[in-house]
Amino acid sequence: MDKKTVLSGIQPSGSLTLGNYIGALRNFSDFQNEYECYYCIVDLHAITVPQVPKDLRKNTLEVLALYLACGLNPDKSTIFIQSHVHEHAELAWVLNTITYMGQLNRMTQYKDKSRKYNESINAGLFTYPVLMAADILLYQADLVPVGEDQRQHLELARDLAIRFNNKYSDTFSIPEPFIRSTGSKIMSLQDPSIKMSKSDPDKNAYILLLDDKDTIYKKIKRAVTDSENHIDYNDRQLGLKNLIDIFSSLTDKRTEEIVEMYQNKGYGEFKDDLAEIIIDCLEPIQRRYKELISDKEYLEKIYSIGAIKAERKANNTLRKVYKKVGFVPKPDMIK
Ligand code: TYM
Repeated sequence: MDKKTVLSGIQPSGSLTLGNYIGALRNFSDFQNEYECYYCIVDLHAITVPQVPKDLRKNTLEVLALYLACGLNPDKSTIFIQSHVHEHAELAWVLNTITYMGQLNRMTQYKDKSRKYNESINAGLFTYPVLMAADILLYQADLVPVGEDQRQHLELARDLAIRFNNKYSDTFSIPEPFIRSTGSKIMSLQDPSIKMSKSDPDKNAYILLLDDKDTIYKKIKRAVTDSENHIDYNDRQLGLKNLIDIFSSLTDKRTEEIVEMYQNKGYGEFKDDLAEIIIDCLEPIQRRYKELISDKEYLEKIYSIGAIKAERKANNTLRKVYKKVGFVPKPDMIK
């Protein structure tokens, strides 16, 4: 029987956070044995907000090295850079023509980002979810591991796949999101009502995968809690709830178990233990990352092979799409 397909991507817009890791990246390697996996670094998406070109190049390689350091195996998964496979932009164009403006207007991430960058809202930011749908549909993905904030984008991808299939004929698989019940939305350490994000102006709001031990320890110690001084998991103690979610995600202990473990203990002891758990989890990743990031030749080899493998699959889908919408096939001699 054919293997099912998994696809996901992360933007190279600055260093990755613990939220990216818990919500998405740590799940990626779990699929490698059972599924045909495609993992991309979505640089086309990153330029929908202002980028410094040399930082974008650096961050792209950084995400690639982190993919590998977090257990992605290039012999099992296809790991590639989105802009190396031109089919993404091409399918996005076709999908744009079957996407309703009203649907894009309802996207909460667009609303948030356009508030934040209100002086330079570009059309790319608006059509961003269509490009994401193209990423997914090009590979006929069945499953897309993401954090909760991407659920609405996934809905759009499903919707466009169904609309295209109905309008022409069966072309795309209908993708399902893979979103874990715990850890799919890690919140800011300084304001637990908002998502942990690398673009937060307050550095204490997030932990980066490459933060050193002291920094991690300090950020956890400074994390906002409450004055109840009693460990519990509920919606009144949102700061604590978020920390328990992180604890639970990294130890695979259930939240009730964690609450039980710290019944007669203070927040200080809980935070000390949590900091240690995060440090122990990130230490081997950081060690491996340091080796990889200094080996540019190896990284280049990985993303070159990845681009060839990804393009093969993407081109196969795009050719079908072009044929169905009525484009004249390109003669072989100019392929
Ligand atoms: P991006 O780059 O913002 O985030 C990458 C992944 O990390 C998850 N994530 C989180 N999960 C839990 N808690 C958080 N605080 C947190 N912050 C981020 C995101 O949900 C995401 O899974 N549009 C996507 C990138 C993308 C993509 C795709 C994903 C482009 N094409 C195709 C899947 C399939 C994005 O901006 O993710």
